[in-house]
Amino acid sequence: MRTPVIAGNWKLFKTIGEATGMVNELKPLVAGTSGVEIVVAPVFTALNRVAEALSGSNVSLAAQDCYWEEEGAFTGEVAPKLLVDAGCSHVIIGHSERRQYFGETDDTVNKKAKAAIAAGLTAIVCVGETLAEREADKTFTVIEAQLKGGLAGFTAAMLAQTIIAYEPVWAIGTGKTASDDQAQEVHAFIRNLLATMFGQSVADDIRILYGGSVKPDNVKGLMSQNDIDGALVGGASLKADSFAAIANFAV
Ligand code: PGA
Repeated sequence: MRTPVIAGNWKLFKTIGEATGMVNELKPLVAGTSGVEIVVAPVFTALNRVAEALSGSNVSLAAQDCYWEEEGAFTGEVAPKLLVDAGCSHVIIGHSERRQYFGETDDTVNKKAKAAIAAGLTAIVCVGETLAEREADKTFTVIEAQLKGGLAGFTAAMLAQTIIAYEPVWAIGTGKTASDDQAQEVHAFIRNLLATMFGQSVADDIRILYGGSVKPDNVKGLMSQNDIDGALVGGASLKADSFAAIANFAV
């Protein structure tokens, strides 16, 4: 019932030329891929040119962050409606790197996600525990606080425009993937929590992506888990062939 989502987070990589070159290579590799939503998230400066390159394809465009105000004296920020203007349909919110290096909190995640959804974007809201938190047995407490804070005041209709990405911080960029069981355990916890917060049918419909060292050789195992509905991919999304192999996990 839930259409899988494979999203590539390009972080601070790729010039405009490299980004458009990559999607031109990617498009034919995934042109026949059906039943999967494919999304790429380049840097802000490449968004509009990548949108043009993606036009008419089955690949959607995401930004990696946004601000919550529509306009005003907010030097350096980008509003959700400007992302729509640039051609985005999705935006990543609250990635652990933003939480770790740029002061993102559950409260700012909440404001950004609400503003993104109000502008018509799908918000990909990221949660995940650090290694220290996992070792202290705090994984579920941390995820619960991030979800309750990040989704505070959400309605069921807003949840329908939301994708959750579970990314254990210790698995991001480290080559250490959570095992299929470890990931599934947290995904099931997230879905159950969302059921208590928003009702079972909303929880049954929401896509929960796994992120953290997803590669062509581990995606199948992860995707075979009941509550894993896709992947948020960093490193392996930077090359067309490996990202296409992940998007084509089912074939
Ligand atoms: P990774 O990054 O695939 O390179 O671990 C995932 C992410 O940060 O979204």
